[in-house]
Amino acid sequence: MIPAAADSSHLSEGPVGREAPAWLAARLQAAGGRVSFRQYMEWALHDPEHGAYGSGRLRIGPRGDFATAPSLGPDFAGLVAVQLIDWLEALAAEQPGPIALVETGPGEGDLARELAGLLAEQRPDLAARTELVLVEPNPGMAERQRQCLADAPLAGRWVDWPQLAAAPVRGVVLAHEVLDALAVERIVSDGTLWRRQELALRQGTLRLEPGEPLEPEVAALLVPLDLASPGPQRSAGWCSELHPGLPPWLEACGRGLARGQLLVIDYAHEARRYYAPQRSAGTLMAYRAQQASGDPLRDPGHWDLTAHLCLESLEAAAQAAGWRSLGQRRQGEALLALGLAERLHGLQQLDPAGLAMALQRREALLRLADPHTLGDFRWVAFERGGTPPSRLLKLPRFLRDPAP
Ligand SMILES: C[S@@+](CC[C@H](N)C(=O)[O-])C[C@H]1O[C@@H](n2cnc3c(N)ncnc32)[C@H](O)[C@@H]1O
Repeated sequence: MIPAAADSSHLSEGPVGREAPAWLAARLQAAGGRVSFRQYMEWALHDPEHGAYGSGRLRIGPRGDFATAPSLGPDFAGLVAVQLIDWLEALAAEQPGPIALVETGPGEGDLARELAGLLAEQRPDLAARTELVLVEPNPGMAERQRQCLADAPLAGRWVDWPQLAAAPVRGVVLAHEVLDALAVERIVSDGTLWRRQELALRQGTLRLEPGEPLEPEVAALLVPLDLASPGPQRSAGWCSELHPGLPPWLEACGRGLARGQLLVIDYAHEARRYYAPQRSAGTLMAYRAQQASGDPLRDPGHWDLTAHLCLESLEAAAQAAGWRSLGQRRQGEALLALGLAERLHGLQQLDPAGLAMALQRREALLRLADPHTLGDFRWVAFERGGTPPSRLLKLPRFLRDPAP
């Protein structure tokens, strides 16, 4: 996600104590005065009454709280559709019967609506066999998606993962800027040991403090990252995030997909960049009203809270959940492989009467590929079911180089 103007002038110096809203003070008191940062993030985002997504309060788009690629216009969907149609076509050819286009965390519903329209227009044969499945745990967001998709050419159904697992589908799952909204555990070095960061209530004020040593299952996530202890380079106060929500999410998603692909599109770093000693405050950010802040305690439940993914942690969790890795690439390169340059060129042929629209689309396409913002997002693909493909024959199109 990006603030509309990609403006970082509002970045705060970092967390300070903030007055606790009544609902959060009551929760903290009931929990004995402190909870893990992960629990706090879960409440602040997904609580059905107070959470930023759970209540449906956050608005996505250039005029909302933050923009995402699908909210910049239809070209993102047009390019992603090239890859999705390749996969859906191959699945349809494997055996007769229905196939599914599953979007998880559909936000305002823009991407699902565009994709349904493109499929119906470009491949009516495939559209006739495809059902649109939406997985959205936050009731406030699901309501807006229903309105957005009311007259889409593919009928949509909203499910949760256990419902999908009861009758798993063959199809493609798209997760665009969703996994960054899973609550993270924040870890803090005390100079010798890792501790989980906790949110404490002190005389009505919220404080982030080092708390208990990590639970064994969370500490286990650090071992493959070569971070079993903070070591001399990460002194007291060094802080970052772990993603214990990823393994259960990938397992739940996998149980819903009998055969097909998962495409994760999100901001992510390799572990060596993510946990570099000089990145001493992790990647967590808060967004609201086109402002970005490094302080996760501002007005809890009114700001989006989000953290980068760690590519190695994602790959390891996916493999443990039975997914085969197909590869990953930066968004800018993925979009070029799917025809971004041709789209830009095509804009020059447009009727001069549509100049304003062409300029807007040009701007959006350039932003999608800008290596300093959206172009640095990662596209990470996985597959499950069927027989493992020969990598060379089945390399997804977004991983191939564009024709010269
Ligand atoms: C940052 S928004 C992205 C929305 C949309 N994909 C876009 O790019 O514009 C995150 C979305 O994921 C949803 N979400 C959060 N946690 C989720 C989860 N565990 N499973 C599925 N969706 C989730 C939120 O409610 C919201 O719709």
